[in-house]
Amino acid sequence: MNIIVTGGAGFLGSRVIAQLLAAKDGGTPPVEFDRIVSFDLAPSKVQDDRVDSVVGDLADPDLVRSVVNDNTVAVFHLAAVLSGGSEEDFDLAYRVNVQATRELLEAARAATTTPRFIFTSSLAVFGGPMPEVVTDTLATQPASTYGAFKSIGELLVNEYSRKGYVDARICRLPTISVRPGRPNSAASSFASGIIREPLLGEPSTVPVPLDTTMWLSSPDTAVTNLVHALRLEAADLPEWRVMNLPGVSVSVGEMLEALTEVGGQQARDLVTIEPDQRIIDIVCSWPGSFDVSGTLALGFTADMSFADAVRQFANEFASQEAGAVR
Ligand SMILES: NC(=O)c1ccc[n+]([C@@H]2O[C@H](COP(=O)([O-])OP(=O)(O)OC[C@H]3O[C@@H](n4cnc5c(N)ncnc54)[C@H](O)[C@@H]3O)[C@@H](O)[C@H]2O)c1
Repeated sequence: MNIIVTGGAGFLGSRVIAQLLAAKDGGTPPVEFDRIVSFDLAPSKVQDDRVDSVVGDLADPDLVRSVVNDNTVAVFHLAAVLSGGSEEDFDLAYRVNVQATRELLEAARAATTTPRFIFTSSLAVFGGPMPEVVTDTLATQPASTYGAFKSIGELLVNEYSRKGYVDARICRLPTISVRPGRPNSAASSFASGIIREPLLGEPSTVPVPLDTTMWLSSPDTAVTNLVHALRLEAADLPEWRVMNLPGVSVSVGEMLEALTEVGGQQARDLVTIEPDQRIIDIVCSWPGSFDVSGTLALGFTADMSFADAVRQFANEFASQEAGAVR
C-alpha cells in the first residue's frame, strides 16, 4: 500500500513526505501505508528506505499509469508550474497543471482502489470583483493563467470524485510564508523574500503597494493541514470537495512590522519599495481575507499570527542557512 506524492522533491512535497513518515513512526498515520512514492522531475531529498523516487514527467501517461496502480491508497498531487512560471509559459502550465492532473485522475480511475486524492489548489483561483471576506461559496474568476488552470484542476478533481473514481480533498492553500531557500517562480515569492533575505543580512524589494493584504500560512501549518486532509473521513467532507484552508490576513506593511519586531531595524532597513506591475497584476488580484469557519470546524488549523511564522523561520531555518541569526 503506497502513497504517491507528485512534486515530492519540491518545497511542500518534501515536508509532506517527512510528516507522513513521522506520523507512521508515531503510530498515528493518517491512513495505513507501507511506502511513499515521490514522483517528480528530481529525486526526493528525504532519506528513508520507505521512500521510492520516480523521476520523470507527470504529463507522460504511460509513466503515470505505471506509478498509480492498485497498490495506491492516496495521491498528494502537488507538482505544478507556479504562478510566475505559468504566466510566462502558457503551454507548459497547461501541460503540467491541467493535462498531467487529468492523466493522474485517469490512472486512479483505472485502479481497482478509490484513492484519497489531495489536490493543492490556491487562492489564485479568485479574482475580479470580490467581497472583503471570501466565503466558501464565492465563484472563481481567476485573473492569471495559474489561477485559471488551478480552477480547471479543481473542477476535474471534484468531478472524478463525484463519479466515485477518486475520493477528493481539494485544498486551496494560502500563500506560504516564510519559505526557506531561494526565490522561486511564484509571483508571490516576495512574501517570503522580504522576510527571509533581510533576516539573512541580504537586501530585498517589495514589488506591491504596502496596503496589499495577503492571506498567509506558515509552511508547518500548511503541511499539517494537507496531512489532515488525508486523515478526514469522506462522510465528514462537504459534497463540493473544495476547501479554503486557514491563513492569517496581513498587509505587506504589517509584514514589514513583523520583520522589524523579530529582526530589528537593521533588517527592516534592507527592504526597499520597487513597484513591479507584472507582480502587482497577479498578486493584487488575489483575496486577502477568508471566512474559514467551515474548514476550522473540520479540524484544520491556523497560525496564531504572522509574527509567529517569522519567528518560526528565524529559529528553525535562518540559523541553519546563515550560521548566525539573531
Ligand atoms: N508555496 C505556496 O505558496 C503555494 C501556495 C498555494 C498553492 N501552492 C501549490 O502547492 C503545490 C506545491 O508547491 P511548492 O511550493 O512545493 O512548489 P515547488 O515548486 O517547490 O514544487 C513543485 C514540484 O513540482 C515538480 N514538477 C513540476 N513539473 C513537473 C512535471 N512535469 N513532472 C513532475 N514533477 C514536476 C517540480 O520539479 C517541483 O519539485 C503546488 O501545486 C502549488 O501550486 C503552493
